[in-house]
Amino acid sequence: MSNSFEETLRFIRESAQRELAQADTEQKVSQIRVAYLGRKGKLTQLLRGLRELPPGQRPRAGELANALKAELEKQIERLLVRLREEAKQRTLTEEKIDITLPGTPLVRGRLHPITQVMDQIVDIFTKMGFRVAEGPQVELDYYNFEALNIPRDHPARDMHDTFYFSEEVLLRTHTSPVQIRVMESQRPPIQIIAPGVVYRRDSDISHTPMFHQVEGLMVDEGISFVHLKGVLTSFVQQMFGEKTRLRFRPSFFPFTEPSAEVDIGCVICKGKGCRVCGGTGWLEILGSGMVDPEVFKTVGYDPEEVTGFAFGMGIERIAMLKYGINDIRLFFTNDMRFLEQF
Ligand code: FA5
Ligand code: MG
Repeated sequence: MSNSFEETLRFIRESAQRELAQADTEQKVSQIRVAYLGRKGKLTQLLRGLRELPPGQRPRAGELANALKAELEKQIERLLVRLREEAKQRTLTEEKIDITLPGTPLVRGRLHPITQVMDQIVDIFTKMGFRVAEGPQVELDYYNFEALNIPRDHPARDMHDTFYFSEEVLLRTHTSPVQIRVMESQRPPIQIIAPGVVYRRDSDISHTPMFHQVEGLMVDEGISFVHLKGVLTSFVQQMFGEKTRLRFRPSFFPFTEPSAEVDIGCVICKGKGCRVCGGTGWLEILGSGMVDPEVFKTVGYDPEEVTGFAFGMGIERIAMLKYGINDIRLFFTNDMRFLEQF
């Protein structure tokens, strides 16, 4: 075999190994593989040139060249494995994640406690057959007062310190005007509740200028105080529990006669008497009564033909009792520490 063939082999071997020794990335190694072992690579070319050798030298030369090819392939493979491993270790150290760092908290949204209580009240009454009715928050004096038997000079207007836009237009001070709007637009039987926002010039630990009420109205032939008691007793038991005590206390509203306010046994002291219930053991939750014949006449109903009852409750008050909250303003200051508890 010619010396020059063996020399060429040695030359290829050395230069390949020199280059591989310096290759520090997978990409460089791949380039070297192509330069030596690729289709036009140096060693490939040499192997192709074997047929130009004298036949006697071919087997030995082929053996040597193939041995070098196998050696280089093996070396390249090992190098690639090492470089990949090194690259992985480098990313692991450089991109180290500190799993002891606190994560980004996921803030979960929820319904405002007033909305939750409102939904629950609406749910209880709709199951008893009441339909939901709505009316405007910007209301006419006529619906808010006049048609409810509260004339302009009536002292009962003092009960509602009102936000007026003009003589005739105001922010409704209760949900009772919806009663009038519903009765004006349809004939008995009527069985509605009217949940919504109301406004009064009021602000202290148990009063806010904006709050929520749910109105109820049931009108038909033969509706009596028994129906009123039955519906409201069932409501209180579903809202505050089967064992909750309640009482109907005589009261006055210009649009109902007779009128009663409903008290429940204080949820804080269970009736023993505490600061929240003013030592009485009872808490007022709503106003109610039999619809006054004057109101029926105003909407064109015959009070000899139909009777009915109405009630109105403050939602914030119910929510405070249900959750034992002692300051109504907490509902509207949007403090997440408070709201997150519901
Ligand atoms: C009324 O508003 C009557 N319309 C209720 C009614 C309807 C009686 C139908 C008879 C028949 P009163 O002014 O008492 O009544 O208010 C009802 C409830 O609203 C109160 O018991 C109280 O829980 C709540 N409330 C009144 N003012 C405020 C206020 N500023 N902030 C929060 N809640 C209030
Ligand atoms: Mg009252």
